[in-house]
Amino acid sequence: MDLSVTSVLYLGALLYVVVQLVRFIRADSDFTMLWAVAFGYKPEKRLRGKVVWITGASSGIGEELAYQLSRLGARLILSSRREDELERVKGCCLSYSSLQEEDILVLPLDLLERASHEAKVKTAIAHFGNIDILINNGGRSQRSLCLETSVDVYQALMDINFLGTVSLTQQVLPYMTQRGTGAVVTVSSVAGLVGVPLSTGYAASKHALQGFFNSLRTEMTDYPGITISTVCPGPVQSQIVHNAFTEQLGRPMLAAADQQHKMPTSRCARLILVGMANQIKEMWIAHQPFLIFFYLWQYTPTLAWALTDMLGRRRVQNFKAGLDADSAYFSKPKKTY
Ligand SMILES: NC(=O)c1ccc[n+]([C@@H]2O[C@H](COP(=O)([O-])OP(=O)(O)OC[C@H]3O[C@@H](n4cnc5c(N)ncnc54)[C@H](OP(=O)(O)O)[C@@H]3O)[C@@H](O)[C@H]2O)c1
Repeated sequence: MDLSVTSVLYLGALLYVVVQLVRFIRADSDFTMLWAVAFGYKPEKRLRGKVVWITGASSGIGEELAYQLSRLGARLILSSRREDELERVKGCCLSYSSLQEEDILVLPLDLLERASHEAKVKTAIAHFGNIDILINNGGRSQRSLCLETSVDVYQALMDINFLGTVSLTQQVLPYMTQRGTGAVVTVSSVAGLVGVPLSTGYAASKHALQGFFNSLRTEMTDYPGITISTVCPGPVQSQIVHNAFTEQLGRPMLAAADQQHKMPTSRCARLILVGMANQIKEMWIAHQPFLIFFYLWQYTPTLAWALTDMLGRRRVQNFKAGLDADSAYFSKPKKTY
């Protein structure tokens, strides 16, 4: 069979498109992140010895970040409200790594108590002399219908997720501008970019974070040594659903269903570290079908609206039936890494 040069080029192009499509279907982060995973700087090279402050370090993504960072040899400041849990995490970090007692500072902190943040930052600086990276990870989610939700819940979501994060960032940033170097990495969410039914207040607080840090990044262009990053994970295994706000403050979630269908916490944390090592400004981290949503919302909003309405309706129906709101989307557990 005779093949002209043009046919070979067409076949090559087709093969390339098919390979990229398969890669995208199997992907668990955006294209920039995938590039960094394959060819970028390794966290092992870039993060060793850094002083990293993690909020929300007592559980979920923050806890896993602490473990992986300690193995890399980063020195840590661990913060959240529950000191006993932070001590537990510190103990595990010490046993997993060659860090010494003084390399990990347990610094209990409530994001709601903004008046305490200046003193907390001073304590951290007194201990380590500087802060290289602040990971704003602490936060809470929401599972309730807007029409049934007290405004107090909306206030609390904004106070913890948005204002608490802004307050701590404002206290840490001057130490970074003084040195001309540092990074602020904020764990937002897919809900920071797209609408999520049952999480109107949570999505609003994460959208607020996106707006704040996108604007701050541009204000900081005179400081090229300072990186402002946001992380947008899709569903990840953690205590987030168990700890979510409901219709009223103080009313607990009745059933936090099995989380096995979500991305393993270890994979999410690893991708965040790769993003940090490569100073990526916005990280989209999710398995399909969530990953494609990021792209649809960015590039084809009309189609995204139609799909969001369809899946969102199902989510609300599940919720009203007393089921796990997410269960409609999943059938089998994700493999662990
Ligand atoms: N898991 C997901 O599917 C997912 C997806 C997208 C984004 N995220 C984001 O990832 C971050 C971490 O959540 P996670 O999934 O790891 O949930 P998690 O297991 O519930 O962890 C939340 C952490 O935030 C801390 N926290 C809660 N309220 C706080 C307060 N007032 N002050 C200080 N710390 C507080 C908690 O510690 P204490 O109780 O000890 O204070 C805990 O360490 C959150 O910002 C969340 O919005 C999660």
